[in-house]
Amino acid sequence: MTDLSPLDAEGIDAAVAAATDAYQAAQTLDELKEARLAHTGDKAPLTLANRGIGAVAKEDKPTAGKLMGQARAAITRAHDARLAILEAERDARVLIDEAVDVTLPTSREQRGSRHPLEALQETMCDTFVSMGWEVADGPELEAEWFNFDALNFDPDHPAREMQDTFFIDPPESGLVLRTHTSPVQVRAALARRDALTNEGRGIYVVCPGKTFRTDELDATHTPVFHQIEGLAVDKGLTMAHLKGTLDAFARSLFGPDARTRLRPSFFPFTEPSAEMDLRCFVCDGGDPDCRTCSGTGWIEWGGCGMTHPNVLRAAGIDPDEYTAFAFGMGIERTLMFRHGVKDMRDMVEGDVRFSQQFGMVI
Ligand code: PHE
Repeated sequence: MTDLSPLDAEGIDAAVAAATDAYQAAQTLDELKEARLAHTGDKAPLTLANRGIGAVAKEDKPTAGKLMGQARAAITRAHDARLAILEAERDARVLIDEAVDVTLPTSREQRGSRHPLEALQETMCDTFVSMGWEVADGPELEAEWFNFDALNFDPDHPAREMQDTFFIDPPESGLVLRTHTSPVQVRAALARRDALTNEGRGIYVVCPGKTFRTDELDATHTPVFHQIEGLAVDKGLTMAHLKGTLDAFARSLFGPDARTRLRPSFFPFTEPSAEMDLRCFVCDGGDPDCRTCSGTGWIEWGGCGMTHPNVLRAAGIDPDEYTAFAFGMGIERTLMFRHGVKDMRDMVEGDVRFSQQFGMVI
């Protein structure tokens, strides 16, 4: 092929037309780029013709320059027009290909959630930690001695009987599933007795945990439930300290107006013993039809009392020198009336939709 002359208007037009056709034919941006390199690259006829301007006669230079300039402008225009179309097509395609349909149903996988009993247990412990108490724990599979004997239960106390307690085979194992968290009182006191008697460090512990009784699962009973136990041992502790502690606990859980009331009761391991009631925080005692307190104005919350001297003795602590108080309440019960949960079965079934309603309280 002979080189195109910069004065060959027809040849130049043909080269421009060839380039324009090639651009028009390009279906993608890549094809357009290839066509551009073929028609404007180093070896393209128009590029070579442009270089040939230097060789034409001086008087023909303006004509050659003009022809080439027009040619370059024409193919640049053709290229840019096609480029704009192909880019617009690509953008439209990307919008479709990468579109996200926000109305599509989401994956049916459920997110997990903290169980409200766990969260409440932590909240309860936090109250005591903020008052300088320790959090302790003890085994769920417990020695009968800790669960009953050390707590001053008579050998024939009815609570030991089969209908209440899960005994562990073989019968001579001496083990039970703990029926309350009170055995931790003795364990905690034993572990801290030396610091108490040698350094005068009072014992202030709470212990949350699982407890077991041979109850059928229904709206208000579950064979596996949770309690939180409190024990304070020091010189000169009285019922007033117990009452003050319970009031502080109630206020931290139920707000500044919460009040408690003690009613005489009996536990083998406390003397005197009391049931503790919480002033109904829904009706404050003013609604005989209140569903939270059944119109009584008070909600039974747990048991408490001054630790029996025999229990202190079992832990190796001299009851003439030290006094102690203890309390224990059900965490399920607390969750029920703090959050209006009507049925205990919701707490054991493990349906995440139940837990999710409580959010991520920490
Ligand atoms: N352990 C008792 C119960 O399970 C509650 C309690 C704890 C009572 C501490 C007095 C002192 O019912």
